[in-house]
Amino acid sequence: MIKREIKSIIVDYNSPAELNDELQNLIQKAKSAAKKAYAPYSEFRVGAAVLLENNEIIEGNNQENAAYPSGLCAERVAIFYANSKYPNIEIKAIAITAITKDGFIKEPIPPCGSCLQVMLESEQRANKPIQVLLFGTNKITVAENIQQFLPIYFNKDMLK
Ligand code: THU
Repeated sequence: MIKREIKSIIVDYNSPAELNDELQNLIQKAKSAAKKAYAPYSEFRVGAAVLLENNEIIEGNNQENAAYPSGLCAERVAIFYANSKYPNIEIKAIAITAITKDGFIKEPIPPCGSCLQVMLESEQRANKPIQVLLFGTNKITVAENIQQFLPIYFNKDMLK
């Protein structure tokens, strides 16, 4: 038997002020995207903002539907839009936050497994790490790439 230990590096910041202007602005964009979410069923409004290598920011938010599984998470709305608009421009970072009935979440939420899988493929397609910033009012959690959240993952090489 071989036991494997897998480590991830995640950094928490107390406030956006500890981050550079570009990342503070990205968090602001994720916050404003969350306000525009369509989430009448869960009442959990998620916002994502994707920073591209050309410095454009693409926003996305969760889009729900009366046929529940037809909806889509904020992260995938933003990533798919970024990759469809600019298939050859790399993604530098993504900021994510959410609003509940009590306002912005206190503790950051990680992306769901399906979103991580999509974000990971984007990262691998461009061969460039995507920095992840998860905003909550109590702290901001930062990882330098998607693999920190999904260290063992299904990928295209396994289809061969
Ligand atoms: N949701 C996201 O948009 N991103 C996530 O990472 C987790 C969940 C959405 C899906 C659904 O509209 C609502 O939040 C509740 O699950």
